[in-house]
Parts: sequence; C-alpha cells; structure tokens
Amino acid sequence: TAQDFKEKYRPQFHFSPKAHWMNDPNGMVYHNGIYHLFYQYYPDAKVWGPMHWGHATSKDLFTWKEQPIALFPDSLGYIFSGSAVVDAKNTSGFGKDGKVPLVAIFTLHDPVQEKQKTGKHETQGIAYSLDDGKTWTKYKANPVLQNPGISDFRDPKVMWFEPQKKWIMTLATKDRITFYSSPDLKSWTSESNFGADAGAHGGVWECPDLFPIMHNGKKVWVLIVNINPGGPNKGSAGQYFLGDFDGKTFTAYSKETKWLDFGTDNYAAVTFSNTGNRNILLGWMSNWQYANQVPTDPWRSANTIARELGLKTVNKVIYLTSVPVKELDLLKVTSFDLKNVKVKDQLNLTEKANNKTGLFRLDFDLKNAGDFSIVLANKEGNELIVGYDKKANQYYIDRTKSGKSDFEKGFAEKHIAPRISVDANMTISLVADVASVELFADNGLTVMTDIFFPESVMTEFYIKSASGITIDKLKYTVLKASTK
Ligand code: FRU
Repeated sequence: TAQDFKEKYRPQFHFSPKAHWMNDPNGMVYHNGIYHLFYQYYPDAKVWGPMHWGHATSKDLFTWKEQPIALFPDSLGYIFSGSAVVDAKNTSGFGKDGKVPLVAIFTLHDPVQEKQKTGKHETQGIAYSLDDGKTWTKYKANPVLQNPGISDFRDPKVMWFEPQKKWIMTLATKDRITFYSSPDLKSWTSESNFGADAGAHGGVWECPDLFPIMHNGKKVWVLIVNINPGGPNKGSAGQYFLGDFDGKTFTAYSKETKWLDFGTDNYAAVTFSNTGNRNILLGWMSNWQYANQVPTDPWRSANTIARELGLKTVNKVIYLTSVPVKELDLLKVTSFDLKNVKVKDQLNLTEKANNKTGLFRLDFDLKNAGDFSIVLANKEGNELIVGYDKKANQYYIDRTKSGKSDFEKGFAEKHIAPRISVDANMTISLVADVASVELFADNGLTVMTDIFFPESVMTEFYIKSASGITIDKLKYTVLKASTK
C-alpha cells in the first residue's frame, strides 16, 4: 500500500508523493530549522494536470513528511513553478505581530487565455504564510507582474540582493532570462535580459536560479537555466553559466553552456533559499520525454537527493561541482572498506555487500584513471551499468538492459558525459536507490542522474575492468530507507 512505501520501484530515500503526479520542486526554503519542499502536484491523477503546490517538510533533507497541499489553482490560473523567501525585514508588509512572513512567488498559468492564444496567459503572483508554511493567503492584488506578451513567461526565482537592498527575480521568458527587481515583492521593474547570444536554445528555458558562491575570495554568480528539450542526452536538462551580477545585469564569463548534470533525470533543479553559506540543489528526477509514462503506481516521479554545490577551476575555467549533502551519512547502516584492490576482469562484491535492499553508496579512488564499469544486477538478468571509457574520456550510464523500458522507445539507452577533470587520480561516488543512480565523479565535476525500473531489487554488485585497474581505496555503505 502507499502507506508502507514498499510498492515496486518506490524510491526509499528520495522524496516521492504518496500518490499521484509530481513534477518540479518549488519554493524550497529553510526556515526555523525545517526544510520546506513544495512541488508541482496534481492530486487527482497520475499524469500532469491543473497544477497545485504540494508540500513536504524535513529536518535533514532525507526524512520527508508530506503535508497538506499548500496552494490550489484559482481564477487566475494553475499554480506553476516558483520560489519562496523569508521576508525577514517585512518588506512586503505581510508580517503581523512580529511574525516574519514566508512569501511564495509563482506563475499563474491561465488555461482559458492559453486556449485563446492571447500570448499573455502566464503572469506572476504571490502568497504569504504566517504559520511556518502550513497555510497560505494569496495576495488580493495578484498578479504582481503582468505579461508583456511573451508566451512562456514563468518560474520566478527570487533572492534578496543585499548591496542594493532589493529583491531580484530571475524569470524564464521564452528562451531568455529576464531579471526584475522590487523593494517589496509586490511591484517589479524589468532590469535586463540574458541569453540572446548565449547558451543552448534547443528548447524553452524554464526554472532558472541565480545565487553567488565564493571562490578563492571572489564572488562568482551562478545562473542556472533549465531547458526542455535540448539536454545533452535528449529531453530536459539543466545548463548553467558563471559570471558577475551587479543588481541589474548578469555578465557571463563564457557564453557556452555548461551542464549541471549529464544524466537524463535531473530537471528543474534549483537551490533552497535561506541556507546561509550552503548552496543546496534539488531536482525533479525525471524527464518530460517519458515522465507521464513511467511504470510507477500509485504515484509518478521522485526528486534527486539534495546536493551541495561548489566551484572548482580546471585549466583556468571555473566549473560548478555537486556532491551529496553530508546529511546522507545519517542513512548509513553498515559499511566495509577495501584497500589496494586490483580489478582484472571482474570483482564480484555481491556477497561482501550482502545488500538485500539495493540501497547503497559507493566511494572509491583510482591512482590512475582507467576503464571500469560498476554493474548492478538482479536474478532476472537486468543490468544497470555505470562506467568510464578511458579512450573516449567519458563517463556513462547504460540502462539499455536495466528492466522495464517499453513505455517509451528512447528510454533504453546509454548516456554519456565528458570527464572534465584532468587529474590522473579519479574519485567516484555513486548513490543507488531502488530505481535510480546518481554518479558524482571527480568530486562532483561530472554528474549523471538516471532512473530505471528493474524487475526486482538489484542485489548483485560487480566492478569490472577488462584492461585492469587498481583501486586505491573503496568504501561501500549500505543505506537505509528514509521516506515515510
Ligand atoms: C518545468 C515546467 C515549468 C512550469 C511547470 C508546470 O518542468 O514546465 O516551466 O512552471 O513545469 O508544471
């Protein structure tokens, strides 16, 4: 039943709703010791429909508790993606009796106007909560940002820009980003546009994010722009740009797209608000190519695990890195370590791992990068393979024989990603749940997230190398379930 979260393919430490349809994470905000996750939710069916904001809370980013629906569609439209902020200075005036308001900023998507093709069916609205996100009141003067006539005008991500004491909204506008500013979250002024001569344009731009990360004493601004379709392995994916932001204009160091994740299943990824020096990213672990068809029941879709973002310079170019948040350690059940292991052909770790649930984390270091593959398998002969091809200098995830795939003809494929690191030394981290793998190679320089649907739990575990590799050290950690 939905209650015990043990259905076939049910993720055990990734958030998924008990039942029905979910897409993008929305309004992620840390407030009074609680992480709030809202999400695109359709509570009446297992396919996309009139959008609500579902709600879940967690103290540790893994143990999520589903809460009542936070926002319902209204006369202005469906409640599409957006963000939430802690309005600590009560700039909005929504605060009362010293209570700090949480303010949600979202897209109102009007299906009637959409049919009429007015080109103005998406506007931005706001709502506030004075009880820690439990209940929300929509602002009576919504929308707060009218549509100038751009058919895709959505997914506001708002942050406080301290140097100029104003709010900045990063908005996806067709295949551009438009930045707006506001003193009070209610009146918005257009500041600038980004993207005419930068980035990938194989699809519509959606769910952007803008935030700084310190790198060697310098403030580097990260602009995330999700795109659908047009991802590196087809369908939806997240690109990012690094540069400067002066409160008005984002100036990219390079106009070239960099990819946040080369797998097929990390879309609409954005960061939590109000987390201090931490930049914590979470994405929707699916792809519009097949999200409405995946064989799960009675729910559809899960999120990625939360990831900590950082920056690293490789050959004078700065890249974003993502690694699992340290809270993943809380899920440790048992672990074993191996040192100086020569793998020639095949190392079968199935018995040593003794893992009945298929939930684990694997970390290993190689002194010299060489061909290898990590194989997860089950008694039905399903195989999910994660590996590195030295000649091509590429990582890959091969899900061609990983289980059920007949729901979409492009699902059973091998996905590739460039190795960005130039170190001889290689570090690999792999996080596996029942129906997903997340690869963090070279301390998060190359990341791949893929979902799959095995006929039974992948309890067998091998490391293979035809050419031979020596693993310096390896740690295998059995993880436990955290969803409830
Ligand atoms: C991205 C997206 C957003 C939109 C939402 C609708 O997956 O298309 O642009 O706000 O989903 O559910």
